[in-house]
Amino acid sequence: MIIAANLKTNFTRKETSNYIEELSTYMNQNAISQEVLVFPAMSSLDTNETKVIVGAQNAYPTVNGAFTGEIGLTHLEEFGIKTILIGHSERRHILGETQESLVKKFNYFKELGFKIVYCVGEPLEKREAGKETMMEYISAQYEGIDTEYENLIIAYEPVWAIGTGLTPTLEDIEEIHATLKSKSKAPLLYGGSVKVTNAKEVLALKNVDGILVGSAALYGEHFCSMIGYAEELS
Ligand code: 13P
Repeated sequence: MIIAANLKTNFTRKETSNYIEELSTYMNQNAISQEVLVFPAMSSLDTNETKVIVGAQNAYPTVNGAFTGEIGLTHLEEFGIKTILIGHSERRHILGETQESLVKKFNYFKELGFKIVYCVGEPLEKREAGKETMMEYISAQYEGIDTEYENLIIAYEPVWAIGTGLTPTLEDIEEIHATLKSKSKAPLLYGGSVKVTNAKEVLALKNVDGILVGSAALYGEHFCSMIGYAEELS
């Protein structure tokens, strides 16, 4: 299974390095064979020799150049980063990334063989508009994306469940994951208010290959427990 932590705009450089150390120690002590990914803030990217895979929350599809506020391939290569998160709803909705720009980014990092965690998910009004509207919305997020890319991981994160404490029912997660699996055989993670209290039941669902955790992942101990649940279930 794949257990991923999106640290978003949290943790200093020092805090991030302590955090990765904590996860690494847990993984070694408990002989964890699951894939553990951590996406820290840009300023906390660093070389990493642990079993934890460190990825970038974002990068611009360029080696380097005049793209103020962005980082490029050079900056990822400096730290041996080969994993990237693309299409997170906060980048789509707050930072205004379009499907077209995400496809460009996807193709750029795909050509380089990066492991890509590609996020999809609907806002509340689309969910409330019914299944057909919701699926149309999610399907549009697959447009232009090579769903057969070998290093692709998809994360289904309903926007209304992110950081709200709300989650779809387990039946709903199972149903939508089954539908999404018909679009791509890539490992499919669930994200959106996953906590230490619900992680186990989410991980146990059919077609759930892992979780992408935000706020609850900031508690190292909780995140380690989630890694432990995945190990037990595997
Ligand atoms: P929360 O776990 O805080 O809901 O965030 C989920 C998320 O956005 C992970 O990418």
